[in-house]
Amino acid sequence: MGTYTITVLAGDGIGPEVTEQALQVLNAVGSRFGHSFTFHQRLVGVAAIEAEGEAISAETLALCQQSDAILFGAVGGLPRYDGSFKVKPEQALFKLRKGLQLFANLRPVKAFEALLGASPIKAEIVQGTDMLVVRELTAGLYYGHLEPPVPGKPSEIRETEHGIEAIDTLLYTENEIERILRVAFEAARDRKKKVTSVDKANVLSSSVLWRKVANRVAQEYPDVTFEHLLVDACAMHLIRKPTSFDVIVTENLFGDILTDEASVLAGSMGMLPSASLGTRETAYGRFGLYEPIHGSAPDIAGQGKANPIASILSAALLLRYSLGLKDEAAAIESAVEQVIEAGYRTEDLREEGAQIVNTQEMGRYIVDTLTQVRA
Ligand code: IPM
Ligand code: MN
Repeated sequence: MGTYTITVLAGDGIGPEVTEQALQVLNAVGSRFGHSFTFHQRLVGVAAIEAEGEAISAETLALCQQSDAILFGAVGGLPRYDGSFKVKPEQALFKLRKGLQLFANLRPVKAFEALLGASPIKAEIVQGTDMLVVRELTAGLYYGHLEPPVPGKPSEIRETEHGIEAIDTLLYTENEIERILRVAFEAARDRKKKVTSVDKANVLSSSVLWRKVANRVAQEYPDVTFEHLLVDACAMHLIRKPTSFDVIVTENLFGDILTDEASVLAGSMGMLPSASLGTRETAYGRFGLYEPIHGSAPDIAGQGKANPIASILSAALLLRYSLGLKDEAAAIESAVEQVIEAGYRTEDLREEGAQIVNTQEMGRYIVDTLTQVRA
């Protein structure tokens, strides 16, 4: 029994409609297990720029900080946002990530048995895929080395005598590398005990340092198998032999790119949740931000086509990591699996024989499964 406070930032495009389903699922968990959730819904992204002049207001950020966790939808990409705003909607994400020091982005990629046919990769290759990508989230190319760092303003464009040039800086400190490697090794201990550190050490200095620190941290985890992989080779192995991976740990931009690629293994980006964690402890676990890895998909917004599962599974991660509610998280994951196994699919997973349902119906089936089944 507990009472928990969650700040909900649904954002733009399909953000609100998928987040709404995650809230329904959380309420269902609340009634089944006897918890109550207080949701503080606030504006973020284009909606916040239009109403409050900022991608996320200082007041909303403060509210986030006082909550047990944040459930985030998606920002940006709306047609009416043509880039002419001085403020980019994505800045909300950078302010949250950097401002709340959420440096560890966990992106689990699991291929459901019933969705093997939904991936463009052959079923026999995808079968058994179950990996966790640990993406560093508060440094690297996304932040450059402006002093003081300006979140979301990593690059500099300037005019020189030779014309216009632009720079981005890939900066990592030893401490930033060490703490993300530790997250990966700790996670591996609860999984298949293997860590693959991904870098570009044949070219980049930051990767040479990354490798050196990784080797040092690895010595503290002799029970975990450890390997290095260059990022280009990793991109290939991900779709050639995805089952060879357990935990992948990597730099911010590499992790961004590799997780979009890896999402293809799960059949759709609409299936993949994420957790962004720092070091701050809450009364029940670790403070964090939870969001689908997909974006705002403005082309399908408001049509009931969006898959709410990534948001619903993000809510499950929220329960597990920030609220310490492991059984409740597992109950959501199991309900999602059952509904998928029963053949229900949103548009993104359309295939022969599938029963196509809309965003709300998918949410409702998961809620019904959760409330009917007594584990
Ligand atoms: C993600 C997204 C963001 C990122 C964008 C929206 C800035 O692609 O969370 O993966 O690049 O980090
Ligand atoms: Mn991305």
